Amino acid sequence: MLKPDLNEAKKRTKDKALVYTDKYQITDELKKLGINKKYFIRTYGCQMNEHDTENIKAILEDMSFTETSKIEDADLILLNTCAIRENVHYKVFGFLGQLKSLKQQKPHVIIGLCGCMAQEEVVIEEILKKYSWLDIVFGTHNIHNLPNILERALAKKELEIEVFSNEGDIYENIPAKRESKYKAWVNIMYGCDKFCTYCIVPYTRGKQRSRLPEYIINEVKELVKEGYLEVTLLGQNVNAYGKDLDINYNMANLLEDVAKTGIKIVRFLTSHPWDFTDDMIEVIKNNSNIMPHIHLPLQSGSDKILKLMGRRYTKEDYIKLYNKLKENIPNCAITTDIIVGFPNETEEDFNETLDVVNKCQFDSAFTFIFSPRVGTPAAKMKDNVDIETKEKRLQQLNELINYYALEANKKYLNKTVTVLIEGFSEKKDGLLFGYTDTMKLVNVKGEEKYIGKIVDVKITETKTWSLDGKIC
Ligand code: 5AD
Ligand code: SF4
Repeated sequence: MLKPDLNEAKKRTKDKALVYTDKYQITDELKKLGINKKYFIRTYGCQMNEHDTENIKAILEDMSFTETSKIEDADLILLNTCAIRENVHYKVFGFLGQLKSLKQQKPHVIIGLCGCMAQEEVVIEEILKKYSWLDIVFGTHNIHNLPNILERALAKKELEIEVFSNEGDIYENIPAKRESKYKAWVNIMYGCDKFCTYCIVPYTRGKQRSRLPEYIINEVKELVKEGYLEVTLLGQNVNAYGKDLDINYNMANLLEDVAKTGIKIVRFLTSHPWDFTDDMIEVIKNNSNIMPHIHLPLQSGSDKILKLMGRRYTKEDYIKLYNKLKENIPNCAITTDIIVGFPNETEEDFNETLDVVNKCQFDSAFTFIFSPRVGTPAAKMKDNVDIETKEKRLQQLNELINYYALEANKKYLNKTVTVLIEGFSEKKDGLLFGYTDTMKLVNVKGEEKYIGKIVDVKITETKTWSLDGKIC
């Protein structure tokens, strides 16, 4: 049993991350382990986790498991979890509670938990106390070893936990079963060294480690060959890409090289306001296949709160960068993340946040109430903002965000936009969907033949969170 250790997870040494190209290995015997068995996987959280799920699926299929969307048919059930806020924590444990009776009825079913929650000491303690009927728990650094973890669990018939809490290495040969045939997530880096005081990610995902450019470029070139039209470059803090490598190569260089592969659409997530360079702005501006959309988390508009959050920029720095992006990148959409109710946030601090929203008029935003995460510095701060105030602030903020989101969308009325049609909408019967270059959801009437095609769409109606249109 290898349990997580927060103190270890916090450590940062000067050691370079090791790049392994052969760590994921699977014996002929393990390749047969899943014959006639089905797996069901549920994913919580960010795109990084979605992509981890694509890796996990490919590994399971290498072991001959097949996927099912019906939990009652599954021989293996995995929850790939998120630790960023406590709401997922309760959802996951609620779901595990339901799975207990399934396990009692069908003891052969393997039930496992992985992802960021597996990296939390408190979660493992709770599992050992109340959910020890689980079969496997593995961490974000252990995905490559899933075949062996499963084999051990099956042999022992008792809970198998394997969670490394190291700074992390890079495993280059893990396969992926991609969700889409047209757009792909591509990790460019793992982990984070920013240690914003509220955030659990530097503990659950390890230190910042950039993939070598040649691996990324080759992956994108392969995707182009396979017919992919879009890539989203993923990292917790993509504009710090390359800082941990000894080669003189940064995010601007990477964006340019990815654009040169000929892939039609390049997106990237997430940018930190701190590392955004003028070179990046130039590259985005000069390459028409790099989309003019920047997700630039603000978190708070108050200098006092930003300092307590450890964000290392001021309200003025943020607005300056925002204006520079808007002035230099034509038609640039900017979206953001904002936390309300951080410890010590006063009405004036909150008004500073509203002031930035009024000045920046974001295209859209994800807004959250501060959620204390055990082990982070902010969780030790005295939380002196009561829940009613937090909820009131969130509501007030959302009203303003929604107002500007609709205003931004209204500008699209009667305009023609280019959209990669991704498929039929799950929510809207018979409608196809895709996104504009600025990442606005577009719903259109149309037939299946348009799926996987980049088409021109005339916008006929604008709403707060989406646009309706007609294929031209
Ligand atoms: N509480 C609330 N929101 C958080 N985020 C990260 N950690 C927390 C937390 N402890 C939000 C930030 C981040 C987004 C991914 O999640 O806004 O940008
Ligand atoms: Fe968390 Fe800050 Fe790193 Fe983003 S930059 S993952 S908020 S520590």
